[in-house]
Amino acid sequence: MTVVGPFGLSVRDQALEADVQTGLAAVEAGLLDATKSDVPFITEAAQHLVRAGGKRFRPLLVMLASQFGDPYAPGVVPAAVVVELTHLATLYHDDVMDEGKVRRGVDSANARWGNSVAVLTGDFLFARASHILADLGPEAVRIQAEAFERLVTGQILETAGPRDGRDPVEHYLDVLGGKTGSLVAVSCRFGAMTSGADESVVDILTQYGERLGVAFQLADDVLDIASDSHESGKMPGTDLREGIPTLPVLLLRAQAEAYGRPGDLALVELLDGDLADDARLSEALRLLRAHPALEQARRDTVRYAQEARATLTPLAEGYAKSALIELCDAVVHRAG
Ligand code: IPE
Ligand code: IPE
Ligand code: MG
Ligand code: MG
Repeated sequence: MTVVGPFGLSVRDQALEADVQTGLAAVEAGLLDATKSDVPFITEAAQHLVRAGGKRFRPLLVMLASQFGDPYAPGVVPAAVVVELTHLATLYHDDVMDEGKVRRGVDSANARWGNSVAVLTGDFLFARASHILADLGPEAVRIQAEAFERLVTGQILETAGPRDGRDPVEHYLDVLGGKTGSLVAVSCRFGAMTSGADESVVDILTQYGERLGVAFQLADDVLDIASDSHESGKMPGTDLREGIPTLPVLLLRAQAEAYGRPGDLALVELLDGDLADDARLSEALRLLRAHPALEQARRDTVRYAQEARATLTPLAEGYAKSALIELCDAVVHRAG
């Protein structure tokens, strides 16, 4: 048994392990190749976050899903490069929107070079992703376009907030499906599709990816509160400071409204105040870490991961399926 990747998957089959490792190594080479420009500064900016690391969660899913067809099919590695490049581009843009200063343990592009360079580098990465995608054919282009539309819609709906009368938690879950579920679903779908897996398997893995993606983002939102920057490579409390509603905060707000406990009301007031102040942000983090809403959010994350796992039931048993099942737990355990 070998542990593979940052999720610590215990792959019990040497052939599967070799396929995944070889595939991911080819993806690394593909990423470096796809981020080269004739303009040295563009190469530097585009490779900044590639070289900084990252979990390569989406390429890993492409590789695992490709096990349900021919994992050596020519489209598998390019598809994995496309999803990681797309993800990477959204990170450049996301850090501009969230004023994120640290990413993958290094300065964010906006912190280092300013917002304009960060936005344009993100656009450059999208352009390179589209270029590779073109060779995968029109169906892949359409699928990616639809996912990208959902991703952007999710980000916009997050900024816009729920319309009047809409339940904030339902709105939040729609946002997560859009901004994260969409691309994680495409990762699974592309892996299955490019390897020539059966249509029914492609559909199952797409559904799995959608739910796993939501669980992954729920865990990320818990980590924004619960982790320190050594674990996440990002600044804790970024969502709080930016006023981005996440499940722990939504649950706290609902409890404050329902029961009016003075401690909860005071915490809500703190969260609604100016969290650009470091001392206030630290205090908010300290109180939220000890609040039962965080534990409840963790439990909800586990529930989503279990739903992802349940979608896999009809698939034939095997090492790849076991790895996908294990990934459901691994994603949640990031949340502590
Ligand atoms: C961060 O994604 C943005 C989310 C969707 C939560 P990852 O957690 O996959 O970031 P990297 O690729 O490992 O840096
Ligand atoms: C961003 O979500 C999701 C996308 C990049 C589409 P977050 O804002 O939670 O991501 P992090 O925490 O900055 O990685
Ligand atoms: Mg962010
Ligand atoms: Mg986050």
